[in-house]
Amino acid sequence: MKPVKVGICGLGTVGGGTFNVLQRNAAEIARRAGRGIEVGQIAARQLNPNCDLGSTPVTDDVFAVVNNPEIDIVVELIGGYGVAREVVMQAIANGKHVVTANKALIAVHGNEIFQAARDKGVMVAFEASVAGGIPIIKALREGLAANQINWVAGIINGTGNFILTEMRDKGRAFEDVLAEAQALGYAEADPTFDVEGIDAAHKLTILASIAFGIPLQFDKAYTEGITKLTTADVNYAEALGYRIKHLGVARRTDAGVELRVHPTLIPEDRLIANVNGVMNAVMVNGDAVGSTLYYGAGAGAEPTASAVVADIIDVVRTLTTDPNNRVPHLAFQADSLSDHPV
Ligand code: HSE
Repeated sequence: MKPVKVGICGLGTVGGGTFNVLQRNAAEIARRAGRGIEVGQIAARQLNPNCDLGSTPVTDDVFAVVNNPEIDIVVELIGGYGVAREVVMQAIANGKHVVTANKALIAVHGNEIFQAARDKGVMVAFEASVAGGIPIIKALREGLAANQINWVAGIINGTGNFILTEMRDKGRAFEDVLAEAQALGYAEADPTFDVEGIDAAHKLTILASIAFGIPLQFDKAYTEGITKLTTADVNYAEALGYRIKHLGVARRTDAGVELRVHPTLIPEDRLIANVNGVMNAVMVNGDAVGSTLYYGAGAGAEPTASAVVADIIDVVRTLTTDPNNRVPHLAFQADSLSDHPV
């Protein structure tokens, strides 16, 4: 069987990680997908020094990838709502499946994107959009599918958690740690998204939509960041036996689903109080399973690539097992969502 060809749009931190994981683990990935997976083309404004692209074709025009008839799956790793949205919508219109790590795009334009994908019968997969390498979307959709979810809560921004950890452990200044998070490739292109809670609100919006079967409603989330916190706040919390963690919480209430992102005091003996650095942790409470906890790296090249590549494998598995039935099972089923208010 011919290998499936993927086109990678964006060769920054996550794009580079995705290319490298696809190359390094090609044999394992082909075995698990049931078919070889080749990078057929890459769109990048500049090359990534961490990638040896060999003979892989490179263009600086993302639409050359999207309109390339050889490409079966478009992997959108550009970020933001602008070009990324056009890339995804054009890829869907061209009948290509899409894998994206773009939480901003899914949280803000997901309803429109999933509707288009459903109409066209293509898949849109987005595991990497929430909590980096933690397979939390698969956990909610598959492992916890039997449950009524009561609440989802967690640390879902690695940059913010890295900043709070370094402030507490080393007394470092906020700006200094943020600069390091940017250098390490953890932060968003616009780091105010990380420190003002916008990135966490994007991710919480996505988790809530899956957990509670509601449309994506980013504008309804209460969003507060960590910019007003000082090292003194962190130290006072410590002296009182607490840690300050930036949490996203989505909770079912009688009035609807509550979405909120804000700093929270957590007793220091709780597991989630001990999630440090760039690590993320998401707790999910379901009526049958009770409380569960998922932990792992929330940002960075290869942890995020782990989720991107898992989605590529999922799409290829679906194509390989049933090539005539391109069920968009990874996209939201927009007509099955309730109009439960947020
Ligand atoms: N800027 C994000 C974070 C990247 O720090 O969590 C992963 O989504």
